[in-house]
Amino acid sequence: MKIKLNYSDKFRNSINKLKFEGRYRVFNETKRKVGFHPLAIWNNNSITSDIIVWCSNDYLGMSQNKYVTNSMINSVKEMGTGSGGTRNISGNSSAIVELERELASLHQKEKAIVFSSGYVANEAAISTLLQILDDAIVFSDEKNHASIISGIKKSDAHKEIFKHNDLNELEKLIKKYPYNRSKVIIFESVYSMDGDIGNIEGIVKIAKKYNAMTYVDEVHAVGMYGKTGAGISEQLDISDSIDIIQGTLGKAYGTMGGYITSTDLICDVIRSYASGYIFTTALPPALAKTATQSLKYLKNSDVERSLQQKNVMLLKKQLSDNNINYLDNKSHIIPVMVNNPIRCTEISNILLNEFGHYIQPINYPTVPAGTERLRITPGPLHTEKMIAELTFSLKQAFKKTEHINFKKPA
Ligand SMILES: Cc1ncc(COP(=O)(O)O)c(C=O)c1O
Repeated sequence: MKIKLNYSDKFRNSINKLKFEGRYRVFNETKRKVGFHPLAIWNNNSITSDIIVWCSNDYLGMSQNKYVTNSMINSVKEMGTGSGGTRNISGNSSAIVELERELASLHQKEKAIVFSSGYVANEAAISTLLQILDDAIVFSDEKNHASIISGIKKSDAHKEIFKHNDLNELEKLIKKYPYNRSKVIIFESVYSMDGDIGNIEGIVKIAKKYNAMTYVDEVHAVGMYGKTGAGISEQLDISDSIDIIQGTLGKAYGTMGGYITSTDLICDVIRSYASGYIFTTALPPALAKTATQSLKYLKNSDVERSLQQKNVMLLKKQLSDNNINYLDNKSHIIPVMVNNPIRCTEISNILLNEFGHYIQPINYPTVPAGTERLRITPGPLHTEKMIAELTFSLKQAFKKTEHINFKKPA
């Protein structure tokens, strides 16, 4: 007997599962207001109101910097909106070539190659690298981003996951393998959800000792750290010892796109084999030129970085003074811990609906179940008054949700 499948039931059940577990994602619709960063307009079922955004990865407000916006406007007038093709077939604009030159120079590497996003950069570069180094073993920090995990999975390389930032465990794992077998250690410089910093120096030492390559994701650090914004590896003066540095243009640089920087040879290999690089439309030239403008600006200006760091310190102090629990770290990411998905969502709703502060709740699977949080990223244009009001509102929201005591599903 033929049984007709009920496809809709399968889809509905998967959504109901998320709702039951309190991790169904609701996207808030916002419209940003140029000249008023970090304010935005929230569109709540056609009722609009002004809100203060505290969870943006446009960390320095560069997407509204006038040099950057003027560059975008003028470049579109000069070169149009799209690139017209893949890098191989008519999309290799002078603007993207210039952007790659700037990125290589920023990180003091021979070469850089640009992808459509930081996610694609990781997935395409890691999967290709591991396939080329056949029989490779990859050592990956357990807190690495989804794009790194996806790149590793696509490669089918043998993998060893080490406990977060635990160099003893990394060394224990790596020493099991022959010195002359290909090995790649992949980690991040600033971890996106905890905001802590990877032990780059320690990992580089282990890599040298055991003949391994190193790949560091600096997505949350580029534009933000180091004298010219080249990230934590610049701050530590260790870029030379890292084989591949990966970054994004979509966060501190306020535009869009991702990249890797490395030797000429490694970039040539990725460029020649990575399907996520080859078979997709190249970044629009206007966007590439604008990203270059943002890069050059942040190479020379430290005002945004220092104002931002001042505001981060101020908010951390106010949270401590008010007994609001957050994960302390040395970065600009402040995770206020709620440890309960329903309460986390409820606090976020209260902040938005009653006080006009927008902080998206971060629930499983972005973070482990039971460690739900509000990830706050103060920027250079948040004011002292806004910071004081946010602290007050957080206190109220925690008080109002004390009754919520959700148990993790078994
Ligand atoms: C650590 C890390 N790597 C890569 C990415 C992807 O970068 P992009 O947003 O440019 O795709 C993210 C995104 O948040 C990230 O947190």
